[in-house]
Amino acid sequence: MSKTVEIHIKRRDNPDAPARWEEFEIPYRKNLNVISCLMEIRKNPVTRQGKQTTPPSWDMNCLEQVCGICTMVINGRARQSCSALVDNLDQPIKLEPMSKFPNVRDLVVDRSQMFDHLKRVHAWVELDGSHDLGPGPRMDQEDVMERYAYSRCMTCGCCLEACPQYDGDNYIGPQAIAQVRLFNMHPSGAMDREERLEALMGDDGITNCGNAQNCVKACPMNIPLTRAIYEENRETVVHGLFGWLKK
Ligand code: SF4
Ligand code: SF4
Ligand code: FES
Repeated sequence: MSKTVEIHIKRRDNPDAPARWEEFEIPYRKNLNVISCLMEIRKNPVTRQGKQTTPPSWDMNCLEQVCGICTMVINGRARQSCSALVDNLDQPIKLEPMSKFPNVRDLVVDRSQMFDHLKRVHAWVELDGSHDLGPGPRMDQEDVMERYAYSRCMTCGCCLEACPQYDGDNYIGPQAIAQVRLFNMHPSGAMDREERLEALMGDDGITNCGNAQNCVKACPMNIPLTRAIYEENRETVVHGLFGWLKK
């Protein structure tokens, strides 16, 4: 008997429709990843029970764990479907959309709240580009290495899916906090440091972190999120106590 891969997908036709599970079976090939399985199902969307259905929807782009858009919950853990190899997964493989973001359809979620948080914390360096600024200020090598780690964030949302404090829009979350650290450590980015700290000091700010440390374990890019939270917590406390002296 030829080998097969059994895949169960949690589906939803639109944001208001009820969720349902559908089961599929496809022929096994070596080196299949979850996205190749979904593509195979899309070619012939018939369930294991022989019922014709609609092709499943999901997001994908880079196919090399760089863009983060293909993130979904695979066998209970949020991860990128392009890098999840069938040979390393227990079967049936269960695919669900991330639960902390609005579900648009099937495995597609709307992650705009993460990008809104980046806007709120001013996660960029202001430069008007109209004149020659000369060489940038030199940075300590250790700081460069720390900043490099934060710069690898691909806004995938795994840390928010794992965080017990993040639910809806009640907490700005570890990903935005790490980006505050990235831009506040930059010599030019530090010009907007106070604005970033104030964005972390609201009701849904950094003090909502319960220090469960799930985020750092869930991050596929090994970003030192708990270090960023510790450092920014310290910075916001100092800013809260003495920031008014600078005004
Ligand atoms: S340490 Fe815990 S509570 Fe804080 S952001 Fe990470 S997972 Fe959430
Ligand atoms: S910090 Fe890590 S887990 Fe969170 S969004 Fe960025 S890459 Fe994903
Ligand atoms: S498609 Fe870009 S990370 Fe998977």
